[in-house]
Amino acid sequence: MKFSILFCLLLLTVGALMSIRENSDAVVEQKFAFNNYVLSELELVIDELKDFHAERADSSKSTAHYFKARIHYKHIEFFVEHVSPVQAKYQINGALVPKFSEYEEGFIVDPCGFQRVEEILFSGEEIDSVGLENELLDLITVFQELKNAYLSISLSDYLYLEMLQLQLVRIAAMNLNGYDATFTKTNIQEVDENLKSMLEMIKLFRLKFGTKGELKKKFQALNKDIQNAQKFLRKNPNFDTFNRLDFITFHVETINRDLVLLHRTLGLPWSEHKQALHLNSDRLFSNETLNPQFFSIYYSDESNLEKQAALGKLLFYDPILSANNERACSSCHQPDKAFTDGLRTSQAFNQDGFVERNAPTLIDAVYQKAFFYDGKAYQLEQQIRDVVHNEREMGSKLSDVVLKLRKSDEYKALFRAAFTVQKDAGISEYAIQKAITEYEKTLISMNSRFDRYLGGERNSLNQREINGYNLFAGKALCGSCHFFPLFNGTVPPYFMDSEYEILGVPATGENKSLDLDKGRYEVTKVQKQMYAFKTPSIRNCELTGPYMHNGIYTDLKQVLQFYQKGGGEGFKYPVPNQTLPFDSLELSDREQEDIILFLKALTDTSGLAQKPFKLPSFESSPNLNARVWGGKY
Ligand code: HEC
Ligand code: HEC
Repeated sequence: MKFSILFCLLLLTVGALMSIRENSDAVVEQKFAFNNYVLSELELVIDELKDFHAERADSSKSTAHYFKARIHYKHIEFFVEHVSPVQAKYQINGALVPKFSEYEEGFIVDPCGFQRVEEILFSGEEIDSVGLENELLDLITVFQELKNAYLSISLSDYLYLEMLQLQLVRIAAMNLNGYDATFTKTNIQEVDENLKSMLEMIKLFRLKFGTKGELKKKFQALNKDIQNAQKFLRKNPNFDTFNRLDFITFHVETINRDLVLLHRTLGLPWSEHKQALHLNSDRLFSNETLNPQFFSIYYSDESNLEKQAALGKLLFYDPILSANNERACSSCHQPDKAFTDGLRTSQAFNQDGFVERNAPTLIDAVYQKAFFYDGKAYQLEQQIRDVVHNEREMGSKLSDVVLKLRKSDEYKALFRAAFTVQKDAGISEYAIQKAITEYEKTLISMNSRFDRYLGGERNSLNQREINGYNLFAGKALCGSCHFFPLFNGTVPPYFMDSEYEILGVPATGENKSLDLDKGRYEVTKVQKQMYAFKTPSIRNCELTGPYMHNGIYTDLKQVLQFYQKGGGEGFKYPVPNQTLPFDSLELSDREQEDIILFLKALTDTSGLAQKPFKLPSFESSPNLNARVWGGKY
């Protein structure tokens, strides 16, 4: 556990320092042009908060100051979130639920900052004036600290362009989805403010680089497209009915493309460190943009990846990995069921009953920072060790598997060909884990009808499916946990951590009492994480039933009813610290159906189905050659 905290901390610090490191190659003479804008807006945030503090007894003045402070914050959100991600998430503008922080002592960060101020002002309850004062003073302190820090950093120009792209991801995945502004529901207007600052930044770029040749057109296109996006926002700023899908498809993607073209025309470099998103791509939300290698620990080993994946595929379907040579990974992760097994919970080793949990899909599983429902594995590679060693699953040991595999000349040759960089090229525990992981990285589904719509194919979704997405990301708040575009709990735009939530999933489909699987608590032993589960991907959920960690729901209608009611608390059994809003969602039957229609438009298993193939043979152990492809059961 210690290791994992340290590891996360390291990741986070690297994230924060990545930008500061830019110092070294900064274009010094212009270093203040963009920074000045940020600093002046930051100053305005602080001024508004100070006035707010001074006039906090006057409710109409308080709300006015609150909104103004928000607006100026939204102007520099792209910068603060990038350069100070920890402060942004845990002190300034986190979601309005306790955050299971892996970085802070005690692991839990209660809601604070803007979200808490908003709750105090707008929740309709009596105003907690002491709480308000404390929040305001804390916010002022954080912003002042940021100001001091920003005075002395200077970043390269290209980084500002990348930050604007990342802000577009934030807009599409978080801001439009009710991640913040929970009570005021001013999300759509705030996105308009995000875009205003984008126009300001572009103006500064134009001043700095001029408008010679191609540049003029690039700047014009950007301005025009941002302004068009603003028009779209202003036409319907209603959070519940805003057509976010069309906004993303026809405006966010367009602005992103303009930014990429400008970046290329300016001839500026791109960040070289490994990121989750390839920003120098034509699209912001597509297969090509996501970088599976970012989600892996074996950073340096990038040769022969295809051979490794092909070998991993053999191993995945080969029951040689289990102690009785009868179970393969694919016993429980079957390709024709989107890599699940269709059971409530999976069948245990030696057919001795059932394991505790439902087998999740492996499609797109790579795009996570934690594995298993309780997040006990932090890497896919580690997950493989766990499952091979688990007495209830494969009942074996990687060291035994290595010895077995070494008896096959065919396997030996395959490992030799796939692992050439390692000193100990050949069959090893490392190589087994790496090969299977590389195979898992090929299990990617980003070409569903929904994805094709995002790519501009207007006919690939009908109106009800579009409406379904808009409800999913809007009124039904699903998108505040299942983040667009992966629809799992890995938080965009950096994809550095996967989130856990407490829904109060019941013990049975009758919704009578809480399921007593302790979830994340099993790993952290933190009381507030009791019954928390990692938010899974819902891509391909048409095929992955039964649903939830305990497989209690057999169809998506039941899942929708669970959310409609407000989770466990909504069903009136107590759920400590439920993070899902308790109130009924008040979705009509037709709205629920639309959401399900949208979910079904996320199905894409093209190219992932598998026909049995011949497994490698064992010359000297003929009994092993009786192995069944995909496992006996
Ligand atoms: C006995 C059935 C069974 C076998 C065999 C099995 N799994 Fe699983 N797998 C599960 C179950 C059940 C879970 C969820 C367990 C949990 O969350 O505690 C799971 C979880 C996973 C996850 C985590 C997915 C996520 O999104 O968190 C991955 C990855 C995975 N399995 C890959 C494999 C690989 C690779 C193999 C073979 C080495 C394998 N599994 C063998 C049943 C199985
Ligand atoms: C507060 C965060 C949160 C919200 C809001 C939320 N979900 Fe979930 N969702 C989760 C978590 C966590 C799980 C896994 C729970 C478990 O297995 O115990 C889950 C599971 C699911 C599953 C089952 C996936 C599977 O393969 O078993 C579906 C489908 C789903 N959610 C759809 C939705 C829809 C539709 C909405 C909106 C009506 C929604 N979710 C809102 C966090 C959330």
